[in-house]
Amino acid sequence: MSNVVLIGAQWGDEGKAKITDLLSKNTDIIIRYQGGCNAGHTVVTNGQTFKFHLIPSGILYPDKICIIGAGTVINPEVLYKEIKNLEDKNISTKNLYISPSAHITLPYHIILDGVNEKELGKKKIGTTNRGIGPTYADKINRVGVRIEDLLNEEALNEKLDIILPQKNLLLEKVYNEKTFTKQEIIDFCKDYAEKLKPYIKDINPIVYDAIKTKKSILFEGAQGTMLDIDHGTYPYVTSSNPIAGGACVGGGVGPTQIDRIIGISKAYVTRVGEGPFVSELTDETGKKIQEIGHEFGTTTGRARRCGWFDAVVGRYGVLINGLTDMALTKLDIFNDFDSIKICTSYKDKRNGKIYNSYPTNTYIHKYLEPVYIEMDGWKKDITKITSYTELPENAKKYIEKIEELIEVPIKIIGVGPGRDQTIIR
Ligand code: GDP
Ligand code: IMO
Ligand code: MG
Repeated sequence: MSNVVLIGAQWGDEGKAKITDLLSKNTDIIIRYQGGCNAGHTVVTNGQTFKFHLIPSGILYPDKICIIGAGTVINPEVLYKEIKNLEDKNISTKNLYISPSAHITLPYHIILDGVNEKELGKKKIGTTNRGIGPTYADKINRVGVRIEDLLNEEALNEKLDIILPQKNLLLEKVYNEKTFTKQEIIDFCKDYAEKLKPYIKDINPIVYDAIKTKKSILFEGAQGTMLDIDHGTYPYVTSSNPIAGGACVGGGVGPTQIDRIIGISKAYVTRVGEGPFVSELTDETGKKIQEIGHEFGTTTGRARRCGWFDAVVGRYGVLINGLTDMALTKLDIFNDFDSIKICTSYKDKRNGKIYNSYPTNTYIHKYLEPVYIEMDGWKKDITKITSYTELPENAKKYIEKIEELIEVPIKIIGVGPGRDQTIIR
């Protein structure tokens, strides 16, 4: 079996979890390699809906190893709640492993996320307010607390002696916020050390043994390409690398170990939070997509902004991630549309300049407008269709037009939220 990276090719919520769940059946190990509980991953199976924030979406298969990798940031409280929820539903978490190198979101990170956003005012990012940015900032600034520190009181004490006075100074003097005593943080850590200890394991030997014995690994991305800290719509991004390269960094494997890279895109585009979105629809059509697609955030419940499929973003995602193929989800949302548009390029309103490639300087995006082609809808329920040949001609034309525009094959098509509502081409 081969090793697969599965990434979001837009701004997150593309349906990654559904495809991860589907592919997990034929995979031995599933690794979440970046992000934290900002992610909200939905799996619908046998009439039950599961929402995962930190646990890999392969967990519903009892024999699969699920790893929360070194590149993630973990809120112990959220993770423990997720574990408890699954155990309460008789879903085993005995094969869930947490990397000792992952960083911990502590209570002050969440407060700092909130005050940072408040400070930004109108220019706020619209974060999930889960402390993600501040946790990653501490990691990069080398003042982070790692999962391994939960199991080592001496190390935790030493670290907090340095970190906590800095945090308290910032909280109290700059933001006029509540401070934390060292004992409070230690008690918090001790509590979750006890609860999470059975899951903390040295991940590298497991992964390297799997590679040596030709087992298969699926790397499950969180967020999406356009939220990547280096390659997304900066500064309106998350603080990690959701792109395929991030799987190697956060999962701890070399690029030579990856055989297939699947990008997940919706048949349209959504975005939660602030930031540029050239093909956004602020009209009735946008509302219609939002309503039919139930486009409300899995983590925060916020309404997702909706727009037509953006092939400029699509092409960029293919190149930045080195995609081998694409999964196109939520095609069924267009069942009742007379016509559907695709954004093929951007036009600068100031001078008419056409952008066929994605312009990385997002400051100019406010001057860009979408150039569309329009295609006929299929006006037919496709939610029960299981093979490509059975799809209405106009649905096939839509898929094939996207393929032509982004220059990568679409091999998986989503026609409904259920595990079996998927067409493999
Ligand atoms: P993720 O963060 O990329 O895993 O995606 P989310 O779970 O946040 O959002 C995707 C939503 O779309 C979930 O509610 C899924 O159950 C649903 N979904 C996924 N694929 C399809 C599809 O092909 N059709 C429909 N109708 N819903 C889908
Ligand atoms: P999944 O894995 C959609 C967005 C937030 C905000 C920006 C930064 O479910 O696709 P953060 O809290 O990460 O600092 O917020 O990123 N964002 C997501 N949008 N899906 C997600 O995850 C997201 N995770 C973060 O809305 O705009
Ligand atoms: Mg989501």
